Amino acid sequence: MKLRHIISARQFDKKTLEQIFNLTDKIKSQKYNNNHLSGKIMATLFYEPSTRTRLSFESAMLRLGGKVITTENAAEFSSAAKGETLEDTIRVVNSYCDVIVIRHFNEGASEVASRYSKVPVINAGDGKGEHPTQAILDLYTIFSRFNRADFTIAMVGDLKNGRTIHSLCPLLAHYPKVKIIFISPKALAAPKSLKEYLKQRRVHFEETENFKKVELADVIYQTRIQKERFKNTRDYQKYFGKYIIDGSILKYLRSKAVIMHPLPRVNEITQEVDSDRRAIYFEEAANGLYTRMAILAYLFDKS
Ligand code: NCD
Repeated sequence: MKLRHIISARQFDKKTLEQIFNLTDKIKSQKYNNNHLSGKIMATLFYEPSTRTRLSFESAMLRLGGKVITTENAAEFSSAAKGETLEDTIRVVNSYCDVIVIRHFNEGASEVASRYSKVPVINAGDGKGEHPTQAILDLYTIFSRFNRADFTIAMVGDLKNGRTIHSLCPLLAHYPKVKIIFISPKALAAPKSLKEYLKQRRVHFEETENFKKVELADVIYQTRIQKERFKNTRDYQKYFGKYIIDGSILKYLRSKAVIMHPLPRVNEITQEVDSDRRAIYFEEAANGLYTRMAILAYLFDKS
């Protein structure tokens, strides 16, 4: 089934994912026509900070021959600051462009935007909801290291608020041999609705507070404690620094394991880890460009 908007990772079936991964391979090996999107315009509307997601989407559009219009810090510099609703902004912006990439602080905002848009809307993060294109680049990166989908992945940190986790899990659910170990403080555990979703799909997962369980994983997916989602800084400080990958943790990890992180990192992976051959988070970020080129090409492909 052809997707019109990209709002949730749950929209993706295995076939579509694999189509996007194949396209990403072609793009990476430069076997793809670069002017595919010439004449098309992307609008990026970011109401929350971003480095990688916005710049890789914009670079992807430019590399495919398209153009980009943007409002930097949409919360402050768009008409939202004057009290305009998201619905009205989308009704207007969709007549200026061919695709909208939106990041918003409210969960569900991208879905609302898609209801008012005549052009495709891509969710680049909706509060603590989802971040489906990050999950696609994460899974692509995992598959670039593991040929078979029979790995164990430890997801570490703020699993309650981390939207990249909420999107990566449904993609992993397509691969029955994948095992998930959720490692977090109890208060930051993965949402019940996500665990229900995984149970329904018979995904093998366990939950623990014990960081040492990373030694059982082939993929360690570290995340940041999502400071902006805490009402109370004292609560944030309680968890900040609880799970840190440093030189001493490296000793426990499997020799063929990979260490990933959607970035930005704060203190949860120390710099000494960067030179370890298992650290692949910068490669992961670089794949963001290629997978987003593939996602755009897929969205505009008429076939
Ligand atoms: C993530 C996000 O915005 O959810 N960043 C990203 O897009 N690479 C992760 C995070 O901010 O912690």
